[in-house]
Amino acid sequence: MPPCGLCYSAGKEPEKMSKTQSLSFARVPHPSPTPAGKRAELLKNPGFGRVFSDHMVTIRYSDSQGWHDAKIEPRAPIPMDPAAAVLHYAQEIFEGLKAYRTADGKGATLFRPVENARRFQQSAERLAMPALPEKAFLDACDLLVNTDRDWIPGGDGSLYLRPFMFANEVFLGVKPSSDYLFIVIASSVGAYFKTDAPAVSVWVSTEYTRAAPGGTGAAKCGGNYASSLLAQAEATKHGCDQVVFLDAKEQRWVEELGGMNVFFIFDDGSLATPQLGGTILPGVTRSSLITLARDKGIKVREERYSIDQWRADAASGKLIETFACGTAAVVTPVGRVTDPVKGEFIIGSGGPGQLTQKLRQKLVAIQRGEGADPHGWVMRLG
Ligand code: COI
Repeated sequence: MPPCGLCYSAGKEPEKMSKTQSLSFARVPHPSPTPAGKRAELLKNPGFGRVFSDHMVTIRYSDSQGWHDAKIEPRAPIPMDPAAAVLHYAQEIFEGLKAYRTADGKGATLFRPVENARRFQQSAERLAMPALPEKAFLDACDLLVNTDRDWIPGGDGSLYLRPFMFANEVFLGVKPSSDYLFIVIASSVGAYFKTDAPAVSVWVSTEYTRAAPGGTGAAKCGGNYASSLLAQAEATKHGCDQVVFLDAKEQRWVEELGGMNVFFIFDDGSLATPQLGGTILPGVTRSSLITLARDKGIKVREERYSIDQWRADAASGKLIETFACGTAAVVTPVGRVTDPVKGEFIIGSGGPGQLTQKLRQKLVAIQRGEGADPHGWVMRLG
């Protein structure tokens, strides 16, 4: 098994972050890794989230021992007690980040993994969970990518890392768990959306909301996604690819899609995206695009935008493009919006717009280590 380029043995994390002073990873190599031929077959057209690499990283936490028992081992089902707290009260958080193969085919990159590590800590705080030290998060990702590097698809594909943590105490009382299991798995992926259409369609949910003030909307916790599923199923039933949620208070302001942030592009060349403030996930792709656009001198407003204004601006031609963005979705043009009450409207030509394409290209080039990286976002591995 290759060494972990970031592994450390003398952690100096703040007291509140970890009770362990050091964390080194035990290595249990897979006794029968997937044969190269079978892996190549799987990587030809992996889709999203169905093809998994051979290993996983696990770290345990208990109130008495702090972070401990870190290892990389063969990916396998995890034994769980049926009374494990997460199965009852959903105390769970996760992250999503991608590893890319460099152009020469030999190296690998991660895009802004520190941002994911920090958001993971913020999600943990909101869900009353212990904060995994940033370095342990980065080491875990680095170690898994280094070990399963052959699972990074070539071409447009990437290795999607899914770090997650859940409450593992065997107890039915409602309180923060005393035990947690942190795991990172890796999935070879292509495009998130299955559609061949040049742009996706979205369904405005007028019945359900995603997040309310004071809730968990800004945290990346499984519960937010669970509660979006009924609205997402409704979207699918109506022939749409994604659901778009409005704010919970007034049912008026566009907030977020089921699993991604949203941007609007106007005929004066400016961009807008809903402002953060507790109900919207602070996306790493969202913040990267804001920075890249501002670098180019493009005006970006983080402000409220209503569903009625969206419709009116699309009709008048003031709004020329809309796109969804996230780690999984990257930058995906939105071509059609369907509102169950007021009917549908088309954005621009209904296909990908020019600025959307440009921003996507710029971002992807940086992520793959092919374009200039003025902000130092790319972490090269190995
Ligand atoms: C991601 O973009 O990484 C997410 O977690 C969103 C989900 C729809 C896959």
